[in-house]
Amino acid sequence: METVLQFPANFLWGTATSPTQVEGHIQNEWTDFTAQDGNHCRIACDHYHRYPEDIGWMQQLGTNAHRFGIEWSRLQSAPFAPLNQKELAHYVDVIDRLRAAGITPMVVLHHFANPPWINAAGGWTNPATIPAFVDYVRQLVAVLKDKVTLWNTFNEPDTYACVAYLLGGFPPQHKWQLGQFRRVIDHMARAHAQASRVIRRTGHEAGRKLEVGIAKNWTFFHAYQRFSPWDRLTAFASHYTFNKFVLDAFLGGWRRRASTFIGLNYYGRVRFHHFAAMIPASGAPVKRLRDFGFVCDDMVERYPVGMEKILSYLHRRFHLPIYITEHGAASNDESFRERDLKQNLASLHRSMAAGVDVRGFFYWSLMDNFEWQFGYTKKFGLLAVDFADEKLPRSLKPLAGVYERICRENACRVES
Ligand code: FCB
Repeated sequence: METVLQFPANFLWGTATSPTQVEGHIQNEWTDFTAQDGNHCRIACDHYHRYPEDIGWMQQLGTNAHRFGIEWSRLQSAPFAPLNQKELAHYVDVIDRLRAAGITPMVVLHHFANPPWINAAGGWTNPATIPAFVDYVRQLVAVLKDKVTLWNTFNEPDTYACVAYLLGGFPPQHKWQLGQFRRVIDHMARAHAQASRVIRRTGHEAGRKLEVGIAKNWTFFHAYQRFSPWDRLTAFASHYTFNKFVLDAFLGGWRRRASTFIGLNYYGRVRFHHFAAMIPASGAPVKRLRDFGFVCDDMVERYPVGMEKILSYLHRRFHLPIYITEHGAASNDESFRERDLKQNLASLHRSMAAGVDVRGFFYWSLMDNFEWQFGYTKKFGLLAVDFADEKLPRSLKPLAGVYERICRENACRVES
């Protein structure tokens, strides 16, 4: 039997990307970074030049929203410098074309990358980055206030601070610098609160209500053996650092008022066995994990019921509208990806039926792209990109057809 899970009118169905991963021709800390597959992001998907075509693909998918980043390093050459008018015109054109295609833009202001002059001064470990960022936001919002309503200040500050300062996977590749991790989170949380004030005030003066939020990556951390004290301790420490500390910094106490929505990036969970994270992203082979009874994509364990668990927690605690700013699976097995998407949407639908105010869902990602330290090996796209061909041709994958039907029907069909 097939059940049709209908979503509310005005629900946003979108795709998500980030500048470093798709645009190419960027000067930031990733430009000279060599990923595990030996590749770099200097051209990536060349979305910087091919965005009109890519917006055409979004139209084919039937989406009505798109979440993407504006690259700070293109727009300023020094702290407090005026915005580069040519680059600004580029992003204005991107936004105008999206809107003309009936696609609501959600702009991300920081997605794992900084201008070189920010990095040279210590990045987000330096408190001077806060006013520099807020000044950038002030100038940008003054230009875009009538075109963009949805503002996402920071994408996954948790992942950024954790992988750059604890795990050593992202530049500057520091390991176990807990003090730096905490400082980065603290500075970003302060920057979020200040930027949010600027964005909302600018909107208010223009007679528009602008929405502001971060995107929190929520990952469940569990012990593989429930009674192993070591696995439980590792899981608890990970949860405490990655989830609790970050959520409290950005949304705890008075800081809750700095957001009008919560962006949730939800992929799944990590279980620990003898201190090791049992996920493909940490090197455990998908097939071996299957022997343990784990269902994984090429990154983490899938845990669709977690979607409703975390949604209900965020709703109870903060009473703010929520957007699923990212969900997706990396795999060459398209029927697996279809199952994963539908199971997660069914979980999302259950939480909405129980009263959680979710306003939209953005699939990660529009197209296969540069997956940070993993390079081009992780296939998250609705569109495939042939990176072996210098023309970088795009083509629809089977999952694109599934997603298109969901977007057009504003409903998800699941077997029951
Ligand atoms: C999220 C990131 C995004 C991409 C996906 C797979 O953590 O925000 O850039 O890497 O994971």
